[in-house]
Amino acid sequence: MKRVGSILFILLMIALIMEAALAISVAGTDNNGAEEMTLDAGKKGAVWFPHRQHQDNLGDCMHCHSVFPKEAGAIQKMKAEGALKKKQVMKKVCLSCHRKMKKMKKPAGPTSCKKCHRKK
Ligand code: HEC
Ligand code: HEC
Ligand code: HEC
Repeated sequence: MKRVGSILFILLMIALIMEAALAISVAGTDNNGAEEMTLDAGKKGAVWFPHRQHQDNLGDCMHCHSVFPKEAGAIQKMKAEGALKKKQVMKKVCLSCHRKMKKMKKPAGPTSCKKCHRKK
């Protein structure tokens, strides 16, 4: 009886370890993307974008990813295909939120051209 008990115990431990390993690998597949990025804006000059800071402050991915998918180069691709107009993300996503926050006298991001567009 004692031996059966210890075999069962070992099997239980193996099951627990496998479950923990699975939980870790599932957590590891959550892709939050790059911490910081540089967004292409043609001749106007690239735009520095602190991605993680926005994720932490805003909480909801959909503020931006309802407009374009969670893929590097997604905005460029959609602009090239005509699915997004030039400046559409800038106006409807970035600027509209920064302006709204400013109006509410809350910490806001830049609203002036030069603060976002940095000449190459
Ligand atoms: C304030 C806007 C904004 C928010 C909020 C946001 N993202 Fe993003 N995300 C972007 C932009 C901009 C890009 C770059 C798209 C491009 O390259 O065209 C991007 C790209 C990505 C990418 C692909 C690029 C990479 O580095 O792998 C992933 C993955 C991603 N985001 C995940 C998330 C997740 C998960 C959340 C929510 C926790 C989130 N994002 C919230 C703006 C945002
Ligand atoms: C909060 C940051 C931000 C501010 C402020 C901002 N822009 Fe932008 N701008 C962007 C981003 C990001 C893009 C790329 C995405 C897009 O085209 O919507 C862009 C794209 C553009 C483009 C299109 C470039 C191309 O060839 O596709 C032009 C032109 C432009 N901006 C001009 C301006 C002008 C003029 C101002 C000031 C009135 C301004 N931007 C203010 C972030 C900003
Ligand atoms: C839903 C709201 C929201 C959206 C969408 C958003 N931002 Fe912001 N952004 C903020 C807020 C709030 C801050 C100020 C955070 C702080 O000061 O703690 C900020 C700050 C910034 C800063 C200044 C960061 C610093 O540390 O100096 C930049 C640059 C910026 N945003 C760029 C962008 C660009 C580019 C986009 C579009 C791709 C964008 N943001 C979209 C809310 C937003």
